[in-house]
Amino acid sequence: MRPYVILSAAMTLDGKIATATGSSNISGKKDLERVHELRKECDGIMVGIGTVMEDDPRLTVHKINANPEDNPVRIVVDSKCRTPIDARITNNDAKTIIACANEYKDDFLSSDKYETFKKRGVKFFFSGDERVDLVALMSYLHEEGIEKLMLEGGATLNFSMIKAGLIDEIRICVAPMVVGGANAKTFFDGEGFDTMDESVKLELVDYYPLEKDLILTYKVLNI
Ligand SMILES: NC(=O)c1ccc[n+]([C@@H]2O[C@H](COP(=O)([O-])OP(=O)(O)OC[C@H]3O[C@@H](n4cnc5c(N)ncnc54)[C@H](OP(=O)(O)O)[C@@H]3O)[C@@H](O)[C@H]2O)c1
Repeated sequence: MRPYVILSAAMTLDGKIATATGSSNISGKKDLERVHELRKECDGIMVGIGTVMEDDPRLTVHKINANPEDNPVRIVVDSKCRTPIDARITNNDAKTIIACANEYKDDFLSSDKYETFKKRGVKFFFSGDERVDLVALMSYLHEEGIEKLMLEGGATLNFSMIKAGLIDEIRICVAPMVVGGANAKTFFDGEGFDTMDESVKLELVDYYPLEKDLILTYKVLNI
C-alpha cells in the first residue's frame, strides 16, 4: 500500500521550475493560495534535498487561514542526511520525517546533528543502499498514516517518482513567462527516457485560467 500522490509545481511556459541561479518565484498570488489549499488537504508533503538546499522551504500552510494541525507531515528525501541543522523544514511548526539511505546510516546516527534533530522530534527512515528507495519510502509513509501525499519537487525527485510509477496526479501552474537557460531546472530532469515511446502517458482532466496563470490537472496513466 502507498499514498495517493499528487505532484504540484509551477513552471514558466518553457517548462522551467527555477532559473539557473535558483530563482523560483513563479506563481501568482491566487495560485499560491490554491497550492496552500492543497497542502491543507494532504496528510504529507515531500521534497528532495536539492529543494531544501536551494529554497529552505517551510512547507506549512501559511498563505490561507489555517491552524497548526492543518500542516501536513513534511518529508525530505535526503540520502546522505545533508539536511542543514537550521533548515526551516525541521522547525516545530509541523512534524518532519527525513528519509536517508542505509550507506550513511551508522555515521549519521552517531552524529551530534542526529541528536539535535531527535530532540526536536524529527523522525528518520532509512532505505536503499546509496539512494533512498522511493517504493519502500511510500510504503512506510502509508504505514505512518499518510494517505494523500503532495510532492513539491524538485526536478530530480519528480523524475524518479514518475519513472517508478509513484505519481497518480499532476497539478501544474503554467505562468506566462519565459526564462530559458540550458542549466535552469525543468519540471522533470533526472536521466530522462531515450524515446517518446517510453514516456509516461497522461490524461488531461481539468484546466482553467487563474489570474495570469493557467492551471492544468492530469491523471497519470499506468499503461
Ligand atoms: N517551481 C516549483 O514548483 C518548484 C518546486 C520545488 C522545487 N523547485 C526548484 O527545484 C530545484 C531543486 O531541484 P533539484 O532537482 O536540484 O533537487 P530535488 O529534486 O529537490 O532533490 C534531488 C535530490 O534528492 C535526493 N534523492 C535521494 N533519493 C533520491 C531518489 N531516489 N531519486 C531522486 N532523488 C533522490 C538526491 O540527493 P542525495 O543523493 O544527496 O540524496 C537528489 O540530488 C530548486 O531550484 C527549486 O527552487 C521548484
